[in-house]
Amino acid sequence: MTSRGVLPAALLLAVAAAALLLYTALPAAAAAAVAGDHSTLDKDENIQPLSTLNMAAARVMMDAGSVIHASPELLGANGEDSAWVTVNFTTPAPTDGHWIALFSPANLDLIMGGKQSSSSKINAAGEDEAPTGLPMAPIKYKFANISPSFMSSGSGNTSFLLINQRYDYAFGLFSGGKDNPKLVAVSNKIAFANPKAPVFPRLAQGKEWSEMAVTWTSGYNIDEAYPFVEWRMKGEENAKRTPADTLTYTRGHMCGKPANAEGYRDPGFIHTAILKNLWPNRDYSYQIGHELPDGSIVWGKSSTFRGTPSPGQASLQRIVIFGDMGLGQTDGSNELAGFQPGAQSTVDRLITDLPNYDAIFHIGDLSYANGYLAQWDQFTAQISPIASRVPYMVASGNHERTSHDTGGFYSGDDSHGECGVPAETLFSTPTVNAGQRLWYGVDRGLFRVCVGDTEHDWRPGSPQYEFLDGCFAAADRKHQPWLVFAAHRPLGYSSNGFYAKEGSFSEPMGRTLQNLWQKHRVDLAVFGHVHNYERTCPVYENTCTASPGSSPAANGSSPAVYSGVMGGTIHVVAGTGGARLRGFAGGEWPQWSVARNESYGYVKLTSRDQSRMEFEFVRSEDGQVVDGFVIEREYKDVLACIVDACEPHSLAN
Ligand SMILES: [Fe+2]
Repeated sequence: MTSRGVLPAALLLAVAAAALLLYTALPAAAAAAVAGDHSTLDKDENIQPLSTLNMAAARVMMDAGSVIHASPELLGANGEDSAWVTVNFTTPAPTDGHWIALFSPANLDLIMGGKQSSSSKINAAGEDEAPTGLPMAPIKYKFANISPSFMSSGSGNTSFLLINQRYDYAFGLFSGGKDNPKLVAVSNKIAFANPKAPVFPRLAQGKEWSEMAVTWTSGYNIDEAYPFVEWRMKGEENAKRTPADTLTYTRGHMCGKPANAEGYRDPGFIHTAILKNLWPNRDYSYQIGHELPDGSIVWGKSSTFRGTPSPGQASLQRIVIFGDMGLGQTDGSNELAGFQPGAQSTVDRLITDLPNYDAIFHIGDLSYANGYLAQWDQFTAQISPIASRVPYMVASGNHERTSHDTGGFYSGDDSHGECGVPAETLFSTPTVNAGQRLWYGVDRGLFRVCVGDTEHDWRPGSPQYEFLDGCFAAADRKHQPWLVFAAHRPLGYSSNGFYAKEGSFSEPMGRTLQNLWQKHRVDLAVFGHVHNYERTCPVYENTCTASPGSSPAANGSSPAVYSGVMGGTIHVVAGTGGARLRGFAGGEWPQWSVARNESYGYVKLTSRDQSRMEFEFVRSEDGQVVDGFVIEREYKDVLACIVDACEPHSLAN
């Protein structure tokens, strides 16, 4: 049924030598016309590249003259969790419609929807056996003409970067383009040495400041091996072991297509251990592992982190915030990552910048898997170099949560059937509701960050409103002055065209929490969703309430300084993690819009004490700070009366 061919050795050597160069010199013509952005803002640009493959119409039409071969066959022999694979292919009548795709599990009977006569089942790990008859989307694909020699000779080669996603892999060679795929050849199977190995650890702050959650993915259910984290404070001799819990989800958890159809993929098992009683600012090392029944241990990677500063503690503290990142594709697959063209740049910059920040808040639209669940493994692999070192706190975006008739605030199906299940399982958050309603607060020394969930109701009287009221109130401002609100969709000020179309640049559709922000003197509200950068003045009811005490120098080298009584909250849109950038509405700038930038990048907050906080917008491309300001404030300035925020008082003494 399958056509497994081995190309001549000389050809293999030649193409292997050239292959590593290919993904850095891809023809521009191969770039996708698809664009990544937000469906509510522009549905035409919200196209996950994998959704453009019509797998439901795919047919098996094996061609004896077509051959595809992948090497090496054994990956990760030294414990690596990713590996480059070279694919060589040949076909007698090459066309622009030939494409190559990576599938896993390697059984293409199932992939082709059981249209072949013999159909064995996945069941590589013995769990979550998918029903036959359902098409399965690939994990990655490229057009064959990405190899320069293909159209003239019919033979080509390219390289794919694979990560350990459990199960085995095979490549398929298709003709017929995306609309009418015909499988003409299937490669040899390839696999990681231990497909079940624990991979991609990611940290998150726990419910207490002194707790750190370690989450990772493996192929081991609890009846096969016990998951744990071994950890120690730097300088300590004895390591501790903390057990982890084990979760998974199934096709039945999904709320619609493609997540419960061709986009579904067994997620393996997700483990989380909560490390407790950590000392503030102390360095720790840790390693994830699984103890097998015979007592032997399968270890994952080791890493290090620093304990969270205690609430109110003054020391150097830095927080990164951004939204809307998605996936980079270093191997040029999925049409050159046209979906999120800035993701790789932001990831690379965050890795370079790792010594210079202490925590990340990725405020929604994380992977843009959009119902193609294998992409979540790709995403956790992408961020693991960062998230294994600093807490990676997530918020819920429309691409994680919004799904028809599932209790969310918005209509539409921007999660494409995921209804929050993968994101809420793969990432630990210190919610009081055990996920699902993803709002929470965390203390980090001088900062208190209250994370909202814009995919659920926040209006007065709602559970979220009550939570946020309490979250803001819990900040002890004399010691913990910097109060930050972060959530996915702008609840106020954005000059994106969509918001302008609503009839006002501000507070569209009545979305606001401004009475809460004002009541609690929230310093900063940061949002994603809109794929550009914009900063307001301190603002309340569309009016600037404060001016910087010192204006930026003519060359922009010194930031604006806001000092004294705050007046209102500064709002920032930073949906600049990587999804395709968007412009701003034309016309005169609203009074409150004081800085704009169309760059990929992230916000960084820095504070060393209770009187000064620095804000920077860092451009991913070169690490330059392209906008910033400073708040200088004493405690009495926080206590001072401001409009609509003064507590009732008596003049009695
Ligand atoms: Fe969004």
